[in-house]
Amino acid sequence: MKVFITKDKRAGSQKAFDLMQQEMENGAKVFGLATGSTPEVLYEVMTESDTDFSDITSINLDEYVGLSPEDPQSYRYFMEKHLFSKKPFKKTYVPDGLAEETKESERYNKVIAENPIDLQILGIGTNAHIGFNEPGSSFDSETRKVALVESTIESNKVYFENEEDVPRYAFSMGIKSILKSKKIILMAYGKNKAEAIQKMIEGPVTEDVPASALQNHPNVIVIVDEEAGSLLNR
Ligand code: GLP
Repeated sequence: MKVFITKDKRAGSQKAFDLMQQEMENGAKVFGLATGSTPEVLYEVMTESDTDFSDITSINLDEYVGLSPEDPQSYRYFMEKHLFSKKPFKKTYVPDGLAEETKESERYNKVIAENPIDLQILGIGTNAHIGFNEPGSSFDSETRKVALVESTIESNKVYFENEEDVPRYAFSMGIKSILKSKKIILMAYGKNKAEAIQKMIEGPVTEDVPASALQNHPNVIVIVDEEAGSLLNR
């Protein structure tokens, strides 16, 4: 893993954008995208740029089960709002939160197989989850319905009016699906991500720390601010 420590989220997002552009110059056609507060500024940088994404296909990591694409809390809605409505893409894929479990998992795995991801953008949960692959997720997992753990529900409740409204399940690409991407950029900002970042990079590779699976990938770039990188020893 290559680690870049940047001044702040804006500088980190600019760095990620530069790398993204390089990949496009090298022929990248498929981006894996993420939601959450982490990639928001990257999407801002993308929409403010004059880069043309109309030849790029995007595949998002995950979606809440039970939310429709029009639901303002859904990840489809987030992507439309922050990126797709401002920058046309060739085709955009987000799991359908209302679809039947087995059919949707199969459909999405097929989408990924048919559109191999050149560059995957990732954030990280405070418990080191990637996508919605919570601790204990198999490194051999593909897209499936997963249960969210209490700490994730707790972190995500700020986006909902009541805690009871936070969905308890999601469709998520698996760890294996993520590791198939040719290149991965993981961003993390803020103190509350420091422990997850330290474990991901310097800890043992274990299913208890989902992001540690990235140590097995040959082409991972980690972009953090000082706070998120503050517990790194090397
Ligand atoms: C959610 C998403 C992840 C994201 C994580 C961190 O659980 N499924 O893809 O990385 O939250 O979110 P944030 O960037 O808001 O800290």
